Amino acid sequence: MAILRIPDENRLLKGYNEIRNYLSNIGIDYERWEPLEDVSTETSSEKILSAYAKQINELKTRGGYVTADVIDVNHNTPGLDSMLAKFNIEHRHEEDEVRYIIDGRGLFHVHPQNRPVVAIEVEAGDLIRVPRGTLHWFDLCSDMRIRAIRLFQDTSGWTPHYTHSGIDTRYEPVCWGPRYIPPQNAAAK
Ligand SMILES: [Fe+2]
Repeated sequence: MAILRIPDENRLLKGYNEIRNYLSNIGIDYERWEPLEDVSTETSSEKILSAYAKQINELKTRGGYVTADVIDVNHNTPGLDSMLAKFNIEHRHEEDEVRYIIDGRGLFHVHPQNRPVVAIEVEAGDLIRVPRGTLHWFDLCSDMRIRAIRLFQDTSGWTPHYTHSGIDTRYEPVCWGPRYIPPQNAAAK
């Protein structure tokens, strides 16, 4: 289950409906799809795409996505630092950013117009759609691990348009670092 924080209001949302409704109001789609039992950390990308073919096809129909792949990032990923440096700066895309998390965790910051920035910590089973044009950035958590199905409307793949606003530097990735409060120790508001 995702965790949603609104740092500027010192709020933490943990319930599914609460998170889904809050995100819906800022244009972000969030759903839970329980992970398939026959998919493990050892399952190849090809088998993951095959195992989730039904769900992927449903998403393609829903959002006009034409391709899907599996991104697999961990401590040993070559060029990890430079890869993360592309993700963790405020940017937008000309297509939706759709991720279904297979393994690991990650942190999306979304910067809606006229609303406070939200930090969405996602884990296995979370499906998130950040619509085209939405300002956002992404960090890994302290376990430096994420595996996710990505869907694209454009076959050219992931293309960011950076804002260079610097706002991302004001929000520490909350799923690691000295201010991180594990969810079980944080009071839900
Ligand atoms: Fe992005």
